[in-house]
Amino acid sequence: MNKHMNHLIAPSVLSADFANLQRDVEMINSSEADWFHVDVMDGVFVPNISFGFPVVEAIKKHAAKPLDVHLMIVNPDQYIERFVAAGANSITVHYEACTHLNKTIQAIHNAGVRASVALNPHTPVELLTDIIVELDMVLIMSVNPGFGGQTFIKNTLSKVSRLRAMAQISNPDLLIEVDGGVALHNTAALSSAGVNVFVAGNSIFAAESPAQMISAMKNLASSAIQSI
Ligand code: DX5
Ligand code: ZN
Repeated sequence: MNKHMNHLIAPSVLSADFANLQRDVEMINSSEADWFHVDVMDGVFVPNISFGFPVVEAIKKHAAKPLDVHLMIVNPDQYIERFVAAGANSITVHYEACTHLNKTIQAIHNAGVRASVALNPHTPVELLTDIIVELDMVLIMSVNPGFGGQTFIKNTLSKVSRLRAMAQISNPDLLIEVDGGVALHNTAALSSAGVNVFVAGNSIFAAESPAQMISAMKNLASSAIQSI
């Protein structure tokens, strides 16, 4: 693993109070968090609808840190430029939603942002063998996408380790992000397996002090011993 790798915390805005979005964005600004994780759901790829461009623009207006936009939508190619215009600094598309993934990744790079692919829990990391070299990041879903507050799927740890081993060979700078059910109890194990970016919604926003929870996760993530 790249020894300069660091550990980033990306609170998921899906768990914020939408009636107090500016307040919650400012809490993240003044915390030790690194990115804003922004979940866009279309009600087709996943059985839920979250928000679209106006809300992403509203977050961007107040956010002092990069927006990590996770598209849980079909036909993501159609919207890449609009999400970049709305303020995305990285765009994640789902492997399961892209017929011409190589082309989609090129389009994301051409739009000037970091390109990432998400895998649903049943999708093997080995399917990325011929695209991994093109990617800045892979997002491993540790729940079935669609809702915050679900239980972490344990097989995720094996997927992360296998992906980190693949990346060692062909893309040592690859960021591995994990999303769903991430909390203090699994942060160290995920970090040891090779995760660099920790998305967390419920565990941060339901905490008594979200800012302290962010710091605690970041400390655990960075002090864990890497297994590779
Ligand atoms: C799930 C979303 C996640 C979600 C995570 O479909 O992609 O980003 O907000 O929420 P928690 O951390 O509550 O599982
Ligand atoms: Zn997400």
